[in-house]
Amino acid sequence: MEKSWLTVSLHLLTILSSIQFPRSHASSDYSRQPPRSLIFTPHHRSDSDPQQVHISLVGRDRMKVSWITDDKSARSIVEYGKIPGKYEASATGEHTSYNYFFYSSGKIHNVEIGPLEAGTVYYYRCGGSGQEFYFKTPPSSFPIEFAVVGDLGQTEWTASTLRHVNKTNYDVLLLPGDLSYADSDQSLWDCFGRLVEPYASHRPWMVTEGNHEIEIFPIIYPHGFKAFNSRWPMPFQESGSTSNLYYSFEVAGCHVIMLGSYAEFDEKSSQYKWLTGDLGKVDRRRTPWLIVLIHAPWYNTNLAHKGEGESMRKAMEKLLYEARVDVVFAGHVHAYERFVSHLFNLLSLIWFLQLVYIIFSFNFFFFK
Ligand SMILES: *[C@@H]1O[C@H](CO)[C@@H](O)[C@H](O)[C@H]1NC(C)=O
Repeated sequence: MEKSWLTVSLHLLTILSSIQFPRSHASSDYSRQPPRSLIFTPHHRSDSDPQQVHISLVGRDRMKVSWITDDKSARSIVEYGKIPGKYEASATGEHTSYNYFFYSSGKIHNVEIGPLEAGTVYYYRCGGSGQEFYFKTPPSSFPIEFAVVGDLGQTEWTASTLRHVNKTNYDVLLLPGDLSYADSDQSLWDCFGRLVEPYASHRPWMVTEGNHEIEIFPIIYPHGFKAFNSRWPMPFQESGSTSNLYYSFEVAGCHVIMLGSYAEFDEKSSQYKWLTGDLGKVDRRRTPWLIVLIHAPWYNTNLAHKGEGESMRKAMEKLLYEARVDVVFAGHVHAYERFVSHLFNLLSLIWFLQLVYIIFSFNFFFFK
């Protein structure tokens, strides 16, 4: 496979959330847009109807369909096929639910379907009744288009960003953390699921955690990530990871590593050991592009979140550098910056584009 900037296009977006943020040192001709109001996406469907439908990649040719019903007797079944209304296949999966203080989640269904053909539209229905959805599977080879969106939230900015992303006809959305900004208010996770459903049910969304997913409460919920792990289960087992907080997957000619800024990362940690093993398995002939996503950036000139990614950078940057990672995307700081690793040297010039770090802004930006 030919590796060039022509073969992978990336749409980078993020939005300003409603969360207050210190003003950064943007150049004087740039004025930061003010926050916009929260959108509370209501629940209009019946208790047994699927809601918050979203899909994610599992292995090379399968898709996980996830949704929630208030009705605890609703079935975890997905029927699908290539013609609307005609479902030639079906699969049954599993379900879960969780409690967080006085909140009880609905029934969270997860069903893996496949094998699926690449670059193909499939129509599907969840739970044996109700609305039909459709998605397109990613291509099996280049070109592939990713949309990268960090710090999504659920404000009027989110809605405008998602409309914008949707115009690009991307193949896979990558989200390096901060999804709903529920921050322990669990009903906001449901609102977020409903807000993103029209998009996340059409294309696979691959996510990793940000600080707003932590939701630790001392003694009662000491490990956190209850909602995130229950609602956004990613295919971590497929890449040999033991945690939903970090994993990797391959699509077309890309090996994509989703690191966990809020899981342990020092040399003795399971994440470090897993990353070492995962990088060792990369075959650049099969996946010439090696892409990494993290939430908290390892380089950042803004005052906001200054230095927060530094200990992780110290622990892990060398691994990425030695594996010749092409590009690292981060979120967290709501500003756009590009960096070259401080490990960049004359030798790197010969390799060209060694390790570029990108934090994104709410500006729309893409290269083809
Ligand atoms: C996304 O774009 C497609 C056309 O490419 C359109 O059919 C669909 O309605 C859009 N989705 C939303 C939620 O606007």
